[in-house]
Amino acid sequence: MTTVNLQDETGLSALARGLVGSEILKVASEIRALTEKGLEICNLTVGDFSPREFRIPEKLEQLITEALAAGETNYPPSDGVKELRQAVVRFFQQSFGLTVPIESVLIAGGARPLVFATYAAIVDPGDKVIYPIPSWNNNHYTYLAGGVPVEIVVTPETNFLPTAEQIRPLVRDARMICINTPVNPTGTVMSRDEVAAIAQLVVDENNRRFARGERPLFLMWDQIYWMLTFGGKRHYTPAELVPESARWTIFIDGISKAFAATGLRVGWSVAPAHITARMRDILGHVGAWAPRAEQVAVARFLGMREDIDRYHQHMIRELQLRLDLLHDGFEQMRRDGLPVRAIAPQGAIYLSAQFQLTGHTNEEIRKLLLDRAGFAVVPFQAFGLKKEDGWFRLSAGAVSPDEIQAGLRRVRAALEAL
Ligand SMILES: Cc1ncc(COP(=O)(O)O)c(C=O)c1O
Repeated sequence: MTTVNLQDETGLSALARGLVGSEILKVASEIRALTEKGLEICNLTVGDFSPREFRIPEKLEQLITEALAAGETNYPPSDGVKELRQAVVRFFQQSFGLTVPIESVLIAGGARPLVFATYAAIVDPGDKVIYPIPSWNNNHYTYLAGGVPVEIVVTPETNFLPTAEQIRPLVRDARMICINTPVNPTGTVMSRDEVAAIAQLVVDENNRRFARGERPLFLMWDQIYWMLTFGGKRHYTPAELVPESARWTIFIDGISKAFAATGLRVGWSVAPAHITARMRDILGHVGAWAPRAEQVAVARFLGMREDIDRYHQHMIRELQLRLDLLHDGFEQMRRDGLPVRAIAPQGAIYLSAQFQLTGHTNEEIRKLLLDRAGFAVVPFQAFGLKKEDGWFRLSAGAVSPDEIQAGLRRVRAALEAL
């Protein structure tokens, strides 16, 4: 038996050395260690669901089993099985009133490969990419593409979303604007007026560039949480308000969040056909296809509007229950004079809460909440924010209402003891 040395850390590429891994996964392993020790933790860290709290739709599960039994187990076409691409075309039309050609639809193993491929197909090294901070992983994808980050630090004053007014002075020499709504990490939703203003801004800038023969500005519109909105909020797409903007928009979507199906790995993008074709070729070399059986099943499931609506009624009720408990709990603490506040739930599976403990960094607050209250949250630093102002993401997909209530009681006690 020979033990080989695989610990030598030399020889990595500059890209690999410079890459920052997922900050949330680091926090997750810390929590796992505490849970294994038997500590009670209200785990609000992962942007995921626990199947104990949120199962995938029963119908979808059944369709996947049937597809596997029918032998749908070999390579899918590199742009996705045709039935699913057709189903996405119909779903897009029913959802947003937009008719797109099938050539604009690409299927992949979740939304991540599609986000990566969007950057790879559009951004050249040195190209400027505009995105808000905090936001999910745009900093990492910009790094991977060799792009130059142009970050807009957003605050509660603009509902943690960038406005057209903030973006306008930055677009002249930019290649892409990246927007996600409903937002991971803040749980906020962009208003109709702002979506329309940003779509119009992209059209105006491209009309100007077109007249001069310059390369266009693109808009990556990540709407992976769009089916999950609460309390009168609604999701809008740029193209339903300003149809011309579709020529420069890459829509990102999928089943991961809308159907609590993060492990099934089915996502889709809708974009101009020539961009879709290159994204397909890029992902073809990675082999980042969605599993064939899942694709066949999702193709059928997307046509079952009644099942989808029924599933969402239940899912949204359960999500809102958890997010409201958190929000109301913190607001009650605030009224009782404790240094905390939260933003009312609007969409996605997240809530923004601020712990105003002056003199403490966000990392210190995170450790304090975890160690003294068994309350696990993610600081906005994990989403690129540098400012230490006490804002955190709370994710509600993997906890029960009882766990939240117990966690809130421990937080109150910990804050009162400070
Ligand atoms: C805004 C946003 N986009 C995309 C993704 C990736 O989704 P998927 O699991 O389908 O790769 C996530 C996952 O957390 C997300 O929050």
